[in-house]
Amino acid sequence: MTGAAPQMRDGVSTRDDEVMTTEALHANAAAMVAPGKGILAADESSGTISKRFAALGIPSTVDLRRQYRQALLTAPGIDSYISGVILYDETIRQSADDGTPFPKLLESKGIIPGIKVDKGAKDLAHAPGEKITEGLDGLRARLEEYYGLGARFAKWRATYSITAELPSEYCEWTNAHALARYAALCQEAGIVPVVEPEVLMDGTHTIERAYHVTSRVLSAVYTELFDQRLDIEGTLLKPNMVLSGYDASSRAGVEEVAEHTLEVLRRHVPAAVPGIVFLSGGQTDEDATAHLSAMNKRGPHPWQLSFSYGRALQAPALKAWLGKPENVEAAQRAYYHRAKMNGAARTGMYAPEMEREAVPA
Ligand code: 13P
Repeated sequence: MTGAAPQMRDGVSTRDDEVMTTEALHANAAAMVAPGKGILAADESSGTISKRFAALGIPSTVDLRRQYRQALLTAPGIDSYISGVILYDETIRQSADDGTPFPKLLESKGIIPGIKVDKGAKDLAHAPGEKITEGLDGLRARLEEYYGLGARFAKWRATYSITAELPSEYCEWTNAHALARYAALCQEAGIVPVVEPEVLMDGTHTIERAYHVTSRVLSAVYTELFDQRLDIEGTLLKPNMVLSGYDASSRAGVEEVAEHTLEVLRRHVPAAVPGIVFLSGGQTDEDATAHLSAMNKRGPHPWQLSFSYGRALQAPALKAWLGKPENVEAAQRAYYHRAKMNGAARTGMYAPEMEREAVPA
C-alpha cells in the first residue's frame, strides 16, 4: 500500500497512521523471511531455560542467563543467516557487558528484535489433557511497552496434543480464537504477529494422523484470522512440520515429511502469507535442517519457507558453553554452524556431508 490516503480493508476504513503501520508491518514481515535467513527463538521462559541449563549442570541465575543470551546475540557473522531473534520479557530488558541494551545490539546488526508475549499453555477447562494459551488480558498495554523497547514482531504459541481422541474441536477453536485476538492486537501496535499453532509430536501416531490434525488446526486458525480482520500480508505462520509421532513404531523419512508438510500448507495457508517459519519441536538439529532443505528443494512455493528454531539452533551451543566464559567462542561457533546449515536449507542446498565441514577452531 502506498500514500497516506485512508484505505478500505474488508469494508473497514483505516486511518492514515494505520496505513503507515501497514507498510511497516509488510516490510518487517518480508525482512524476517529474507532469502537465506531465518529466526532464532531465544525466548525460553525462565522456567524452560532453567530446565535446559539444569540438564547440563549449569546454575540458572539472572546473570548467567544474560551471559548465555549475550553469547548468542554477539556471535560474529551471525547476521548473514539470522534475520530476527525472539526474546523473553527478562531478556528484552537486559544489556550486553558494555551497557548496550539487547534490542539495540540486534538492531545494530540489522537483526529485528522480537518478543514472546503469551503467558504459557494452561489446562483448558472441561478438557482433560488439553491446553489453552493465556496472556490476552493486558496485552494491548504490554505490546505498547515492548514496541517502545524495540520489538517489531511477537510470538504466541498454542499447543495441541495428539491421541486417538484429541485434539477436540473445542481445543482447536478456542486456541485459534486466542491466536487471532493476539495477532490483531499486535498489528494494531505495529508489531508483526508470528502465529504459532504447534501440533505436538509426542506419541505413537502415524504421519497421516499428524497430517489430519495439522490440517484441522490450520483451517481453524485461518478462519479466525480472517474473521478478526487480520492483514494477512503482515503476519507470519510458525507451524510444526508433519512428522510421525516420536514413539511411532515406524517413522516417516525426510521425503515423506517434506511431501506431507507441503501438502497441508498448500491446502490451508493463503499465498498472501509472506513466510512460514517452522519450529523445530524436539527434532534433532540435523533432521530439522534436512526437512527444511527437502521442502525448499521442491520449490518455488507461494511463501518463503524458513526456520524459527529454538532447540535446533541452540542445543550444540549450550552444550559447548556450559556456563563458562572461556567457552563463549566455542558456543558461538556451534551456533554459527547451525545457522549456516539452516541458511543453506533455505535454498534446498543443504547436504548432511556439510555437517562434517570443520567448524573453525
Ligand atoms: P523449538 O524450535 O525448540 O521447538 O522452539 C521454537 C519455539 O519458539 C517454540 O515456541
